[in-house]
Amino acid sequence: MRQGSAEHSHSGEHSHSGEHSRSGEHSHHSPATGTQEQLWYAQIATELTRPTDRRVADIGCGHAPMTIALARALPEATKILALDSDPDVLASAAGQIDEAGLTGQITMIEHDLTDGVEPVRAQLAGADLIWASASLHHVGDQQAVITGLSSLLAGGGRLALAEGGLADRHLPWDVGVGEPGLEVRLDAVQDRWFAECALSLRARCRCPTAGPRQCALRVWPT
Ligand SMILES: C[S@@+](CC[C@H](N)C(=O)[O-])C[C@H]1O[C@@H](n2cnc3c(N)ncnc32)[C@H](O)[C@@H]1O
Repeated sequence: MRQGSAEHSHSGEHSHSGEHSRSGEHSHHSPATGTQEQLWYAQIATELTRPTDRRVADIGCGHAPMTIALARALPEATKILALDSDPDVLASAAGQIDEAGLTGQITMIEHDLTDGVEPVRAQLAGADLIWASASLHHVGDQQAVITGLSSLLAGGGRLALAEGGLADRHLPWDVGVGEPGLEVRLDAVQDRWFAECALSLRARCRCPTAGPRQCALRVWPT
């Protein structure tokens, strides 16, 4: 664990990023987070925070889009802690925080959550709000981290988690029969069936006078 203020050691390098979009798709969150996402962070920060919050943490902060949104939503007196295991990411985050004019309100903490929360207990204990977005899936024992983070909360404090990336699933990944991933394989079979069906329809539509535009169903590439 290493701790520093936002004004320290920001190289401005953009080497690692958050990779989840809110839709659950993987994408690259460069430090220049798009307006749409900034609005999303701002809205969530407004909904999650309370004017009485005095200590708030962003766990796995990435390039700090939510850290900045939280700082903007909260009174200046609120201490905000931005934790990440990647020193390059933290340096980039510090640059973003600096640009946003929020240096001084935010403390950067370099810590790997796989080492548990004890090394950062002194900094984070008594948190009114702990936010972790798209970071816990990087950790092996996620329940241990969730339990650890919960133990850092003040009475009445909130732990808010955001994760994404998986399509709707109705079976466990491992149903206990055969190889794991049965539902994905079933999806693949259905997808193949649908493609064959769609392609045969397209073939039927292909007459000299009717182009694909006249078909009820279009398949790309035509
Ligand atoms: C996908 S990004 C999400 C960033 C940000 N929370 C967001 O929503 O845009 C995941 C972040 O978690 C950090 N991270 C990954 N494993 C970690 C660990 N074991 N301990 C602390 N942070 C970790 C990464 O360095 C990265 O910045």
